Amino acid sequence: MRPEIIAFEDRDALMRAAAARMVSELEEAIDATGAACAALSGGSTPEPAYRALAAMPLHWPKITFALVDERFVPPTHEASNQRLVQRTLAPAFASGAQLKPMYAAAPTVEEAADVAEAAYAPLHIDVALVGMGGDGHTASWFPGAARLDETLDLSNQRTVMAVRAAQAAGAPERLTLTRAALSRARCVLLLVTGTDKRARLEAALGSDWAPVAALFDPGMPRPEVLWSA
Ligand code: 6PG
Repeated sequence: MRPEIIAFEDRDALMRAAAARMVSELEEAIDATGAACAALSGGSTPEPAYRALAAMPLHWPKITFALVDERFVPPTHEASNQRLVQRTLAPAFASGAQLKPMYAAAPTVEEAADVAEAAYAPLHIDVALVGMGGDGHTASWFPGAARLDETLDLSNQRTVMAVRAAQAAGAPERLTLTRAALSRARCVLLLVTGTDKRARLEAALGSDWAPVAALFDPGMPRPEVLWSA
């Protein structure tokens, strides 16, 4: 069954809706458990949604922000997803929200993944926001990357894995949640903009070449696809 793509009249409406869905999931988690965790992606699309989220009246000290994936660069680097999250959600952090970095300074990206694994394994992700690249990647699950099958294997016991993908924008060495880790999220939001990307997503669904399609497999929380032109 093809997933429903929820279309919004414009980008502003889309970003406000994405923020509202994150607020709803975070508030539900706080009501249920007293705490909440959102895992966020980088890239150019989600920034307005993060800014809209940061302006909402939430119990920020009860909220932890984690990363869906990260470039293997320090948080001072312009390509850092942590830097993007810290910048766009600055009001939330100023009000007490916590950050769980995925990046760690280490000699290799594999050693950094081991550090992130220890920090991320205990996390319970209430809502994850993911995007999609033009090549059909999501998170840092890149087509043709080494160990992609292992990263997507739902029986994988790891939460975070190292990625080496020459085509990865920002940095060819990445850290990423595994699909097994993302399968444990309570809610997954897939945020896509533009007619080209919508066509790529439609083509990717049901394909065996696009890692984004793996979000829709059985055993995964059904992603909510939010789109505007
Ligand atoms: C990253 C992101 C990545 C992103 C897609 C879409 O670190 O680059 O986590 O998975 O979501 O590449 O990026 P855009 O939003 O820039 O199209």
